[in-house]
Amino acid sequence: MGEAERRSPPAVGEAHLESMAAEVRAGLSKPQKQLPSKYLYDEIGSALFEVISLLSEYGLTRADTRLLRRHAGDMVDSLAAPVVVAELGSGSGRKTRWLLEVLARRQPVTYYPIDISGSALRHAELELGAIDAVSVQGFERQYLDGLLEVAARRQPGEHLLVLFLGSTIGNFDRPAGEEFLREVRRILEPGDALLLATDLEKPLPQLLLAYDDPLGVTAAFNLNLLARLNRELATDFNLSHFRHFVRYDERERRIEMHVVSQVAQTVRIPRAGLTVEFRQGETIWTESSHKYNCAEVAAMASRTGFRCQAQWVDHEWPFAQNLFIAA
Ligand code: AVJ
Repeated sequence: MGEAERRSPPAVGEAHLESMAAEVRAGLSKPQKQLPSKYLYDEIGSALFEVISLLSEYGLTRADTRLLRRHAGDMVDSLAAPVVVAELGSGSGRKTRWLLEVLARRQPVTYYPIDISGSALRHAELELGAIDAVSVQGFERQYLDGLLEVAARRQPGEHLLVLFLGSTIGNFDRPAGEEFLREVRRILEPGDALLLATDLEKPLPQLLLAYDDPLGVTAAFNLNLLARLNRELATDFNLSHFRHFVRYDERERRIEMHVVSQVAQTVRIPRAGLTVEFRQGETIWTESSHKYNCAEVAAMASRTGFRCQAQWVDHEWPFAQNLFIAA
């Protein structure tokens, strides 16, 4: 085998592994150890989240879907045609069907799901591309990169509707969430719309059960993050020495998911050239899920270059769809 063949180009995913290793190293070197919540969603994590959304204790996804199904007509009525739809994080695409069907009754619609997961995009293309008068083109990109591409394809007179559903914004700290909204706004033109879904504050026992279900699906979802690092970075986390742990921070008004080390232990992360020591009881913070109220969401709109045109609230599982118009 010649020199050229042996020095083959980096395998697909090699760059991804490098940046993952760098983020893992940075997160596990902090005094409060952390891992980025986006790494919860590999194929297994995404499948586990689908199961979470079926649990009676976790009403979030059903509330999100209910609001879209009930109010799609009103949401669409306030938008000037023609509309191009971009969705940040398409997921399975199931919720989006209601909106696309109503929009496509007025005129043909282009739908651009943006997701870093190729399998999620293929799912959305299959699920939603079959609707009459809807054409789907997925972008396998980070949210803002994908949105820039969509904006670059905009034809004169077209209006953009950006969907950011599932209360994914809740994964950001409040300041980072607002900064993200500002960055979305910078890509939009005045009159474009952002439909933002936000989970609302609710009684503590209900919240704790939603993130620590008795069946243990959320625990599996959380621990899968460590299993994923074992699979992809060849780390040696012993999953039986970590436990799922959830707390609500009253001041920040957020659920925090952690994994707790049950014993003093050492974990090796070869790709990051790192060994990490854990004390018994020490945690890795793996996800935040911020909870909002309607007034604060409306105030976020005005601070980030939007006006909040309408809010639809589900009272069974307090949750809001917020229609922001770029000012
Ligand atoms: C998909 C980000 C909305 O924060 O409720 C579910 C993720 N984490 N159970 C959420 C999640 C644990 C979920 N989001």
